[in-house]
Amino acid sequence: MRVGFLQFHPIFADIGQNLSRIEAKLSKVDADLLVLPELFNTGYLFSGRKQLRQLAEEIPDGQTTRVLKSLSRKRKMAIVAGIAEKDKDKIYNSSIFVKPGGDIHLYRKLHLFDREKRWFDAGNLKLEVISFRAAKIGVMICFDWIFPEVARSLTLLGAEIICHPVNLVLHYCQRSMLTRSLENGIFTITANRIGTEQRNGERITFTGRSQITSPKGELVVSSPRNKESLEVADINVKEARDKFFTPANHLIKDRRRTFYRL
Ligand code: ACM
Repeated sequence: MRVGFLQFHPIFADIGQNLSRIEAKLSKVDADLLVLPELFNTGYLFSGRKQLRQLAEEIPDGQTTRVLKSLSRKRKMAIVAGIAEKDKDKIYNSSIFVKPGGDIHLYRKLHLFDREKRWFDAGNLKLEVISFRAAKIGVMICFDWIFPEVARSLTLLGAEIICHPVNLVLHYCQRSMLTRSLENGIFTITANRIGTEQRNGERITFTGRSQITSPKGELVVSSPRNKESLEVADINVKEARDKFFTPANHLIKDRRRTFYRL
């Protein structure tokens, strides 16, 4: 299976321009599955919930979902992408999983990071695993990485690949995802953004270094810190079905669950 990511530099609050740039950048990609960053179409540093509400879109009726569906159909690949979702009076930091046939799956970030707690409502959907071509695929967003329960739950639900749109500002996640991969015996695809945003006296720089990791906890591909980049790799999804760490150690069956109770 060919999987990849686009490390991207969104223009803040310019959804039209961001979508055009994504369409151009993905116009020739040859992959089964491609992951875009968290909030790829809006940028990140909102001045407040009011501005975020103006940028957030309904799923599936919004412009971004329509463009992603068309791109997915044309390129015959699944796309996972982070967008701000408006649903009545709620606003979620969401990811959509779009299949070439038009099916859509929605994930709403469960663990909001720092100032996101002022802007967004916390996710309210159960974790889900999606079958696509040869793989079973889970989705989590950025700071979900620090709660190992998320990757483990997705693994127990059958995920072989975790798609992970992110807007990382610290340096811990990339190396932690090697461990999420190893402890669960899965592939992960972390799609980060680059660039700096400065607004209302606040300034944040995103850390790039998007990556794909293997079930053995190794880097398959890694991008630089500060350049847009499209990376695609061939992976053997079957490697994520073998949960034997050694012939005598099974990552899932060897858990001593009766002793884990609090
Ligand atoms: C993050 O959750 N955007 C760090």
